[in-house]
Amino acid sequence: MNINIKTFNNWALQNKDEGMEKGHTSSVNKIFEIISSESSIIKKSFNFLDLGCGNGWVVRKALNNKNCQYALGIDGAPEMIKKARKIDKKGDYINTDIEHWSFNKTYDIIFSMETFYYFSNLDSIINKIYNNLNKNGMIIVGIDHYLENKPSLSWDKEFNLSLNTLSIQEWVSKFKINGFKNVQCIVHDKKEDWNGTLILYAKK
Ligand SMILES: C[S@@+](CC[C@H](N)C(=O)[O-])C[C@H]1O[C@@H](n2cnc3c(N)ncnc32)[C@H](O)[C@@H]1O
Repeated sequence: MNINIKTFNNWALQNKDEGMEKGHTSSVNKIFEIISSESSIIKKSFNFLDLGCGNGWVVRKALNNKNCQYALGIDGAPEMIKKARKIDKKGDYINTDIEHWSFNKTYDIIFSMETFYYFSNLDSIINKIYNNLNKNGMIIVGIDHYLENKPSLSWDKEFNLSLNTLSIQEWVSKFKINGFKNVQCIVHDKKEDWNGTLILYAKK
């Protein structure tokens, strides 16, 4: 188990996943708004993948949409997946390190909230995502730790984490060099010293 997964496994044991769910809800609602307004994917049957799903709350949210035929959540922390499976019998969950996981099928929507900057080999993951998105499929991720968001820059020491710190421009480039053409981003919920959640999205 890597240092990040270990930390979040402990968080699950302390029920801190519930605080994350609360804290990330506004950004995830914005992400679902973007999915609806930017594409017609969810107007017909679709499948959904959540990379770093925590307790599975976004998998359940996706499955609330009548057109969602299948949703899979992946997380490295066994205690997160244990919670997800206990709450939810409809969603599928896999407990594994995403950096060593091979995709089991192709997806219409690949989503991730607050997980991408824990990956050490971003190119490999973004490339795999590109190859496993269906035609017109969408990748959409929310990120709170990035260079311009100053309060997030001490999280490695504060919470015992290993972080990959990129600027907004570097995040956009990562998606472009791994095949995505029309990469867009917004910053959501900016407040005083908090720069907001960086939401990055692109269609195949
Ligand atoms: C900040 S939490 C976010 C959880 C959830 N997306 C949410 O918004 O509540 C990050 C999650 O990513 C998972 N994670 C981090 N690195 C991972 C990796 N390499 N493979 C699988 N899961 C990972 C952690 O276990 C943790 O549950």
